[in-house]
Amino acid sequence: MPGAIYAEGLVKTFGDVTALDGVDLDVPEGTVLGLLGPNGAGKTTAVRVLTTLIKPDRGRALVAGIDVLKKPNEVRHSIGLSGQFAAVDEYLTGRENLRMVGQLYQMSARDAKARAGELLERFNLADAADRPAKTYSGGMRRRLDLAAALVVSPPVMFMDEPTTGLDPRNRQQLWEVIQELVAGGTTLLLTTQYLEEADHLAHDICVIDHGRVIARGTSDQLKARTGGERVELVVHEREHIASALDVMRAFGKGEATVEQHTRKVIVPVSGGAKLLAEVIRELDTRGIEIDDIGLRRPTLDDVFISLTGHVAEAADGNGEQEGATS
Ligand SMILES: Nc1ncnc2c1ncn2[C@@H]1O[C@H](COP(=O)(O)OP(=O)(O)OP(=O)(O)O)[C@@H](O)[C@H]1O
Ligand SMILES: [Mg+2]
Repeated sequence: MPGAIYAEGLVKTFGDVTALDGVDLDVPEGTVLGLLGPNGAGKTTAVRVLTTLIKPDRGRALVAGIDVLKKPNEVRHSIGLSGQFAAVDEYLTGRENLRMVGQLYQMSARDAKARAGELLERFNLADAADRPAKTYSGGMRRRLDLAAALVVSPPVMFMDEPTTGLDPRNRQQLWEVIQELVAGGTTLLLTTQYLEEADHLAHDICVIDHGRVIARGTSDQLKARTGGERVELVVHEREHIASALDVMRAFGKGEATVEQHTRKVIVPVSGGAKLLAEVIRELDTRGIEIDDIGLRRPTLDDVFISLTGHVAEAADGNGEQEGATS
């Protein structure tokens, strides 16, 4: 059974640019997929194909079980998209905009009014609710657009960089709204430049670059691929580096590295906090004084840099070739 969002071999070119180069996706119902990638990777293009705004050159996609190419109108009725569909009317107030969307979706006037009030509250727009949207700041417009996309809860939602340009408080609030939506059964595909956001919200993550999926898995799986956890230790005296290294080697499960100038010893480990306590006891027994010690896990940022850093090298190579032929 394909998931609520399913794509197979999506290809989309714009002139010489291959924006999508054979993308496969499968998002189980009621889960969040975080689609990550550097600028120009093809994220927005994928969202536009899946939301029927553009047609792929090749491939197949189903959204809520409906074929995107064969029945685009049916797909449009089953999805919500922030950013494009929910066109905000500049001359209407925030409240009027939201009530209008509700009525467009056949809500009763009473329900539409209640829903508008609730969303204005949640997105911190209550004070500005009765001003025309054209007087809103950039962040307020963005929030109104998101609120408009959430007036009805469609079974499948797409959000292309929903929190770009929002301040931390508004971002946090949107995260809460998203989590409630997903708890209610909505399937969400989200693109973001904030890896912390993907870490927080996404069940699965898919990293794309140059239109291709270069990694996928849960946040933990991707982090484990990048090297797993490690103990980092700073000894107080430079003379103790060698003996600290001995201790760390005994507990570690990989090659230890030493940064002489910072007196830091790093070793990959497995065993978490319990192991850390043992390391500290052993150092203490041997009289090795430490300035700092900690268990570090790679962040999703580390994963992203290690994955796309590699691809960036290939892009440099192309650049040189182009230079050589011109
Ligand atoms: N309408 C278009 N005409 C020509 N090229 C396009 C068009 N839309 C996208 N592209 C190109 O396709 C590639 C992928 O673009 P896309 O907007 O999907 O990237 P993105 O991952 O969303 O990037 P960003 O993080 O900057 O939003 C880019 O090279 C872009 O220039
Ligand atoms: Mg984009």
